[in-house]
Amino acid sequence: MATDEEGVVGAKPLLDLHGVDQNLVEKMAFDSLVWSSLHGLVVGDRTAQRSGKVPGVGMVHAPFSLLPMSFPENQFNMACEVAPIFNELVDRVSLDGKFLQDSLSRTKKVDAFTARLLDIHSKMLEINKKEDIRLGLHRSDYMLDEQTKLLLQIELNTISSSFSGLSGLVTELHRSLLIHYGEQLGLDSRKIPGNTAVSQFAEALAKAWTEYNNPRAVVMVVVQTEEQIDTEGELLPDGTLLVGGQEIAVVYFRAGYTPTDYPSESEWRARLLMEQSSAVKCPSISYHLAGTKKIQQELAKPNVLERFLDNKEEIAKVRKCFAGLWSLDDSEIISQAMERPELYVMKPQREGGGNNIYGEDVRETLLRLRKEGTEEDAAYILMQRIFPSVSPTFLMRDGICHKDHAISELGIYGAYLRSKEKVIVNEQCGYLMRTKVASSNEGGVAAGFAVLDSIYLT
Ligand SMILES: Nc1ncnc2c1ncn2[C@@H]1O[C@H](COP(=O)(O)OP(=O)(O)OP(=O)(O)O)[C@@H](O)[C@H]1O
Ligand SMILES: [Mg+2]
Repeated sequence: MATDEEGVVGAKPLLDLHGVDQNLVEKMAFDSLVWSSLHGLVVGDRTAQRSGKVPGVGMVHAPFSLLPMSFPENQFNMACEVAPIFNELVDRVSLDGKFLQDSLSRTKKVDAFTARLLDIHSKMLEINKKEDIRLGLHRSDYMLDEQTKLLLQIELNTISSSFSGLSGLVTELHRSLLIHYGEQLGLDSRKIPGNTAVSQFAEALAKAWTEYNNPRAVVMVVVQTEEQIDTEGELLPDGTLLVGGQEIAVVYFRAGYTPTDYPSESEWRARLLMEQSSAVKCPSISYHLAGTKKIQQELAKPNVLERFLDNKEEIAKVRKCFAGLWSLDDSEIISQAMERPELYVMKPQREGGGNNIYGEDVRETLLRLRKEGTEEDAAYILMQRIFPSVSPTFLMRDGICHKDHAISELGIYGAYLRSKEKVIVNEQCGYLMRTKVASSNEGGVAAGFAVLDSIYLT
């Protein structure tokens, strides 16, 4: 362990940042900004009024780290190795309608959003809806716990897994910087693993379209909001989905994971309409539910993985990634969490960042729930807090380079495509490294907490 000048205990950083020549940092920062503009490592600029309305107006570089973050090669390989197993696990869980309904039954009573998703799922069970072609584009997130050296899963995203496009660009940016400045820095660009997440995801979508087998049908990407689909969508008696008269082969949900994506009944009707259709849904309602935090916690219980996976070695590999996960009806763990709330994270069934509860707020929320004595506790799970090592990093935001103490989270993308008994795609597809200032709890890049990063294998 290295202790830096401010006394923060961290992992061995990639570079002694204090030793890097300031002129060199400025040169690299300038080059990286030019590179971002030239290669489309950009996002909409919220401060520009016409941004998002007029193409090409109001763009700013995506927040990124100037240099890649060091990461142990064996841990990276392990995370890649379990990706296809997690893909298979999601598929198996999705087929067990009773498991999904039972596991979420208490949550349903207190969480209106989860209840709406479950209602759609129930309807599909009632009509005995079968999804012959199943497409999953997932991202499993991990943190490397400094003390135990274990790579522990934060969560598995089965809907709207973000940044498959920009993450590959950051990899390219870092490689390009190291090709130019690697010698001066003592770093080798070849230690940054390739990142083809976006092309592999696109290929999986294309293959799903091929399986649907109608050259005139299209892939539809659902963005906020789905209202239009309710107005223009139509379901034919044979299950064919038409939107504006156009047959839909594959529906990709870039929205629909958060309550604000359903401002009215119209969006819920649209979601149900799509679910009832024979279009390939990425994700289907079952895949979506299989990615909830409650299901993550249920899968971590003893003997549950065994219900869905056969291979003992694979089960062991997956289980090794699980952090401590508990439901709030475990009184022993509640007492412990009240005593040492800093060692836990409390999570509702939400996606998109900014919803988790940390530190003193954990104690307060647990006390409130106990006092109220309602069933609201079923809306949450408790999770062991993971503490990754802290290292000094150069973070680029709004064209300015800041040095700060940061921690990182590794996401591994996975694609899965199945047509009845035939597995057509089951692979790991690139990665996403997100780095955030160590003092921030949440990890969102778009939410302004983190920057995009890549990894340097050590
Ligand atoms: N057990 C944990 N220990 C430490 N940090 C955590 C833990 N769980 C979550 N976090 C932090 O909080 C962030 C958000 O958590 P999580 O991914 O569970 O929520 P989410 O809303 O689904 O986020 P996303 O938008 O990434 O899908 C993570 O990216 C991570 O930085
Ligand atoms: Mg998530």
